[in-house]
Amino acid sequence: MKTMKEIKQEAKTKMNKCRACPVCNGLACRGEVPGPGGKGSGSTFVRNVAQLSKVKVNMDVTCGPIVPDTSSKLFGKEVSLPVYAAPIAGITNNFGAEMTDTQYNADILDGCIMANTIGFTGDGKFIDMFTGPLSMIDQRDGQGICTMKPWVKEGIDLRLEAVSKSKVLALATDIDSAGLPLLRNSEIPVETKSVKALKELKAALNVPLIVKGIMTVDSALRAKQAGADAIVVSNHGGRVLDETVSTIEVLEDIAETVGDSMTILVDGGFRTGHDIFKALALGADGVLIGRPVSLAAIAYGPQGVHDYFMNLKNELADVMLMSGCATISDITRDKITVVKD
Ligand SMILES: Cc1cc2nc3c(=O)[nH]c(=O)nc-3n(C[C@H](O)[C@H](O)[C@H](O)COP(=O)(O)O)c2cc1C
Repeated sequence: MKTMKEIKQEAKTKMNKCRACPVCNGLACRGEVPGPGGKGSGSTFVRNVAQLSKVKVNMDVTCGPIVPDTSSKLFGKEVSLPVYAAPIAGITNNFGAEMTDTQYNADILDGCIMANTIGFTGDGKFIDMFTGPLSMIDQRDGQGICTMKPWVKEGIDLRLEAVSKSKVLALATDIDSAGLPLLRNSEIPVETKSVKALKELKAALNVPLIVKGIMTVDSALRAKQAGADAIVVSNHGGRVLDETVSTIEVLEDIAETVGDSMTILVDGGFRTGHDIFKALALGADGVLIGRPVSLAAIAYGPQGVHDYFMNLKNELADVMLMSGCATISDITRDKITVVKD
């Protein structure tokens, strides 16, 4: 199995925009959008990663012998760990990789299946950027989640027809993509959403709805009011708005408010098994990872994605062992400390 270090070294030889830094923290690529960075000064991406270091694990080895079980479920589907591949589009443009989005999506879906977890696919200006990945998910017996941009009604209707005929596990919509200038100015544009619009979307679906791009308690409550089955606490990896707070800072309040009624996922800067543990302790049911999973696919295809997730699984199991957690549900708030500096 390739280590995370080997994956990065190999990825570096296969792309020319992302530097594959030892820690993927948004510093070297500040403002590089298109590219792998965060928008504007890049402060949101940087903060996502930096704030995670303020959460510390409480070591506890007095709970007797433990064999940690990292398995979990998402919408009834068993997964080997509650960590998923985030939707990423524009692999050539953003990473400078010699790989098409089609190949990328196939590798992500296959790598996730090999690791017994779930891959998300993305969307774009042209309809086939949504329907292409969707049919790949169908070819894999529905093992994947597709993500739709927050189009005006016309764009949504075009895509929902394909969703209604597919076996996809769930539909996500990255409502924060309303902040992407390229999509705001496209022939069929994106827009910010209302509860009414999200309710209509939910009513048109026969699969769970995930609303991605929630950063406040109020917006989480609106997603709940619309009938969403899950939210992703996300700022799109810092790519849609500069100077926002990090996702780990807002997670706990959101999870406390709506966590009993919806599945809570989170993303933005999560890199290690320790980071996953911190998110779960603060109320998340699962974590999405973006850029590092992309590097794993660029480096070694599906095998790289599989190895990346297995490294995370081993790290998470180690943290669970050392903190007295036998199962994912044992990872509770008392297992971490949030430090001031
Ligand atoms: C190059 C790039 C492309 C992305 N494309 C999409 C996309 O098409 N749809 C989407 O919902 N999110 C997209 N995202 C955001 C990710 O899904 C995710 O929210 C973010 O990358 C998580 O942060 P991380 O990369 O620090 O783990 C993209 C992110 C990057 C870096």
